[in-house]
Amino acid sequence: MTEKLKKAAVIGSGVMGHGITQLLATSGLEVAMVDISDELLQKAMEKIKWSLGKFVEKRRIRQEDAEAALARIKTTTSYEEAAKDVDIAIEAVPENLELKKKVFAKLDSAAPPHAILASNTSTLSISEMGNATNRPDKVAGMHFFNPPQLMALVEVIKGEKTSQETINMLVELAKKLGKTPVVVKKDVRGFIVNRVLGAVFNEAFWAFHRGEATKEGIDASVKYGGGFPMGWFELADFVGLDIAYEVGKILYEAYGERFKPCAEVIEPLVKAGKLGQKTGVGFYDWTKGRPRIPFNLMEEYDVERSWAVAINEAAWLIHEDAATPVDIDTGMKLGTYWPSGPCEYADRAGIDAVLNKLKELYAKYNMELYKPCPLLEDYVGKGRLGKKTGRGFY
Ligand SMILES: NC(=O)c1ccc[n+]([C@@H]2O[C@H](COP(=O)([O-])OP(=O)(O)OC[C@H]3O[C@@H](n4cnc5c(N)ncnc54)[C@H](O)[C@@H]3O)[C@@H](O)[C@H]2O)c1
Repeated sequence: MTEKLKKAAVIGSGVMGHGITQLLATSGLEVAMVDISDELLQKAMEKIKWSLGKFVEKRRIRQEDAEAALARIKTTTSYEEAAKDVDIAIEAVPENLELKKKVFAKLDSAAPPHAILASNTSTLSISEMGNATNRPDKVAGMHFFNPPQLMALVEVIKGEKTSQETINMLVELAKKLGKTPVVVKKDVRGFIVNRVLGAVFNEAFWAFHRGEATKEGIDASVKYGGGFPMGWFELADFVGLDIAYEVGKILYEAYGERFKPCAEVIEPLVKAGKLGQKTGVGFYDWTKGRPRIPFNLMEEYDVERSWAVAINEAAWLIHEDAATPVDIDTGMKLGTYWPSGPCEYADRAGIDAVLNKLKELYAKYNMELYKPCPLLEDYVGKGRLGKKTGRGFY
């Protein structure tokens, strides 16, 4: 099916755009990369050359294949030139809905009628981007993770009017690029990974704010006790506190009190320009490298609380028919390197135990974040408790 996809355009040549261009070209597509100046495009080409060089050095691709990939990339500041004969365009301009809508309208008039138009947005509405075109059935989300050359996951997102054929095509394309696609069946904010992560961040920020644990203590418990690759504060710094803050606001607007952000913890840092690793300081000081998270604090925080809110959010995604347990678990494992997906974790721990944990937290704090999703109540009511009863999420 993806044999039909021979020519592509990538709009935006920044952090994500140049990586996506490289991926497409390495997989044999002709790619036109677009940005607002030739200077930016040149910089992006340098980055692609550097990255392809690394792949050759590590013997992941051959020199001649790297050269052939480079030869398949052209750059332009003209949408018309880039999109005139494409089969697919992927948009990776800054995370701003108005800007993205303009880009989609321009692509719609420049690209042939059969072309698929995809957005790499982290969380904005695919349906709204689709409605800015005359082909909303051919508009979908294709959310790569940073760096796209290396991260295995792609979330493929269905907008309200996206056709199943478009979704199938993007799923096949993701596989052709060597990625594992997960499908987000509804245009829900945060999709899978950022939504589950948002819940876990909020729980950690609130626990810290209430003075129940230090940020080092939470991170030590999550890393050394829970087996996660990074603690939540460390990860937020790594992602960028401005991005975590913006995503947090979008989730709050979309889901209300369940995603009430702990503004007191993150807002002062964002306002002070302390955005995490990229600015040298955030929750931690990164100027001398990765922060040291002390091992001896790993009893400070109960990591089951992180799991409980993650599983609850996974349950909401399933309850809304936005994603399947397999896709949620795959998303969290490949998108953020979690040691286990929330659904499989719940099945092992017992869904009754998870529900009890949520009820206990809800009674203690009276916050919607902890209010159990009806799906969990339903499963427990039916004796669907996980592995021990033979049926749970799986
Ligand atoms: N950085 C990440 O970790 C990450 C991960 C997944 C998804 N995303 C999403 O990918 C998108 C791009 O993010 P990024 O980090 O690559 O941003 P970036 O700022 O690095 O790159 C954006 C590029 O778009 C260009 N641009 C701006 N207006 C344009 C226009 N009208 N036409 C063409 N090009 C234009 C900019 O000059 C810039 O080069 C965003 O929607 C973001 O949410 C980012």
